[in-house]
Amino acid sequence: MKAVVVYESLWGNTAAVARAIAEGFGPQAQAMSTAEATQDVLAGADLVVAGSPLFAFQLPTAKIRETIRRKAASFPAPPDLAHPALRAWLETVPAGKGRSAAFETRMWFSPGGATGAILKGLEKAGYAPLARGKRFRVAGMTGPLKAGELERARAWGQRLARDLRG
Ligand SMILES: Cc1cc2nc3c(=O)[nH]c(=O)nc-3n(C[C@H](O)[C@H](O)[C@H](O)COP(=O)(O)O)c2cc1C
Repeated sequence: MKAVVVYESLWGNTAAVARAIAEGFGPQAQAMSTAEATQDVLAGADLVVAGSPLFAFQLPTAKIRETIRRKAASFPAPPDLAHPALRAWLETVPAGKGRSAAFETRMWFSPGGATGAILKGLEKAGYAPLARGKRFRVAGMTGPLKAGELERARAWGQRLARDLRG
């Protein structure tokens, strides 16, 4: 039962949640960035979980990543823009037969979200949703994660493993 947990993460919050989800899932899961999750790595995956931060109410766009890059010095820590946006990565997912799940990290309650677009992208590649989109909260504009969120992520990973086994 192979699971891949893929993330876009500029300040590390989404990456930390992805690692906790993989930990909860068990040894057959691996967390990795969009740069690491190549077509070869995805081959034969039974579950693809993908997550991103919520920027301006949605899955990060090329435009907002460019704005962040231009204003990089104004943030408390430098953003990591070295790995591709999840939005672009979703276009490259090879056809598969596994299941999918999506999560996002965000600060506030807001309309919309990122997980709908993520699930849609994965479904287009043949990965049928296993669960509803999951949200994890950060305490400030660039983090840190709120207390208890990594535990929630681990528990969700466990639940995905159980549900995948049926
Ligand atoms: C430019 C920018 C726009 C953001 N827009 C939203 C937003 O619309 N809603 C929200 O809840 N959080 C918003 N946030 C907070 C991010 O969701 C938060 O920084 C995210 O968890 C960071 O994840 P990362 O560390 O994995 O990059 C925004 C942050 C930035 C820097």
